Amino acid sequence: MTDGRKTSRSQAWFGAQGRSGMLYRSWMRNQGLGAEVFDGRPVIGIANSASELAPCNAHLTHVAEAVKRGVWQAGGLPLQFPTMATGETLMRPTAMLYRNLMAMEVEELIRANPLDGVVLLSGCDKTTPAMLMGAASVDLPAVMVTGGPMLNGKYRGQDVGSGTHVWKFEEDLKTGRMTEEECFFAEGCMARSNGHCMTMGTASTMACMAEALGMQLPGSAAWPAVDSRRMETAQAAGQRIVRMVEEELRPSQIMTREAFENAVRVNAAIGGSTNAIIHLTAIAGRVGVDLSLQDFDDLVRAVPTLVNLMPSGKYLMEDFCYAGGLPAVMAELLRGELLHREPITVTGRSVAENTENAECFNSDVITALDAPFQPAGTGTAVLRGNLCPDGAVIKQSAASPHLLTHRGPARVFDSPEAYHAVADDPELDIDENTVIVIRNAGPKGYPGMPEVSNVPLPGKLLKAGVKDMVRVCDGRMSGTGYGTVILHVAPEAAAGGPLALVRDGDPVVLDVPNRTLSLDVDEAELARRRQTWRAPAERYTGGYTWLYTQNVEQADRGADFGFLRGSRGHEVPRDSH
Ligand code: FES
Ligand code: MG
Repeated sequence: MTDGRKTSRSQAWFGAQGRSGMLYRSWMRNQGLGAEVFDGRPVIGIANSASELAPCNAHLTHVAEAVKRGVWQAGGLPLQFPTMATGETLMRPTAMLYRNLMAMEVEELIRANPLDGVVLLSGCDKTTPAMLMGAASVDLPAVMVTGGPMLNGKYRGQDVGSGTHVWKFEEDLKTGRMTEEECFFAEGCMARSNGHCMTMGTASTMACMAEALGMQLPGSAAWPAVDSRRMETAQAAGQRIVRMVEEELRPSQIMTREAFENAVRVNAAIGGSTNAIIHLTAIAGRVGVDLSLQDFDDLVRAVPTLVNLMPSGKYLMEDFCYAGGLPAVMAELLRGELLHREPITVTGRSVAENTENAECFNSDVITALDAPFQPAGTGTAVLRGNLCPDGAVIKQSAASPHLLTHRGPARVFDSPEAYHAVADDPELDIDENTVIVIRNAGPKGYPGMPEVSNVPLPGKLLKAGVKDMVRVCDGRMSGTGYGTVILHVAPEAAAGGPLALVRDGDPVVLDVPNRTLSLDVDEAELARRRQTWRAPAERYTGGYTWLYTQNVEQADRGADFGFLRGSRGHEVPRDSH
């Protein structure tokens, strides 16, 4: 370009002279692109995680078409490219194992190609953080468009929530309230359109986090996947990214410490997934923002839960959308001075400018600060104690109030499978006061830190009418799950955390009001046990899983790879030919 502006990044490719330029342009022209598109206009990558193996993302190619329209309209050149998709429902041993791999792929693809900016299309749980992590580590202008939730599930006239009702149906099946045939029918009713889970599970939560961080357009998290306004917002994002390239508005300017503080508070207000803690921590690590596990407790103490959505409440994402969506929540938090007003967002405007005047259209779905769905201090709590020196997490709103202070004997299982093998044994030596300890489900131990922590209650207790019990685990819980479940225990058992030392019958003391989780066993005894503890043998000697187990950090650090922290920028000094 010769108009005095800085030569764009893509012009290092398409504007090149001689043989190099010919190589870069000629093959692109096989797609029917005219010579004029290489004139220095912003080249916008559309990172598309559509996949039929990740059903929540399967429709993203349609969303990409809308983004493309917007990019063309604004004078950019859109180029769509596929990324891997970490589908929550199918991938074994857990999609979380592959979040970091997807983040690496996104980062490398953006950097290696002639792009000036990127639109990130995500949907299912891990795809949103993976894309934000990757984009943050390149730090080219980026805007996210999540694919939107499915329509509300409907079964026999009732709303059914994806994920949340799987647990309910399972319990109903076990206790004879539902037949196999009814369950089979109901599973279809739970997923009646394109889109991601329509509960406030991890996908909806992370879509809201992307919006709260300022990385997606206001209102964009909530439009159902099949609502035409989803396409409208995607088109607007396509237009906006072209301007962002011109303004050089980068993720590092948007995702500041203040933006993360906003996101943490918004997560509390929406009753969001505990998984957001791990993902936000990992994203923060990529932009060099210091966000500690303790922040997730300290920052939310004054924030009530405003949003009445499953799994904590009764409504679903469609209702949330029609009630005004995230802008209505943020407007209310701004009124209570619970958010920073100034952080800049992808719109080029501040949080306050974007959302201050947003209206709420249904105060039963999005409640007001003076009549909140759940009072302040009942959201996610971060626990410490000799059982979790580096912290553990409990989602109070999904737990039973009477169990938040509890003392009971541990019954220890070395894997979720070990528990499942005996869970329905009528002779099982567990009563409702028992604390079920599931270990070796952490990042290294499983590996990949799966969503297995909220194991169903023992069959005999379910039949006896017991609704909840304390469970302690170094794994995660689905954002759609519920129960008095202590998650993310760090360090994990497989890394030698104290969870590895627990034995059957040890008294476990949970005191959520005082934020403690401890083992009432004296230190000398624990030291003796530690002497005989042996790290589990290495199971992996090669491949990605080996890379993962060697490099994954603990839950309190976001379970990213240590070597992926920080930004590596977008310079590529050497030519390919
Ligand atoms: Fe994909 Fe819930 S399984 S969002
Ligand atoms: Mg999930």
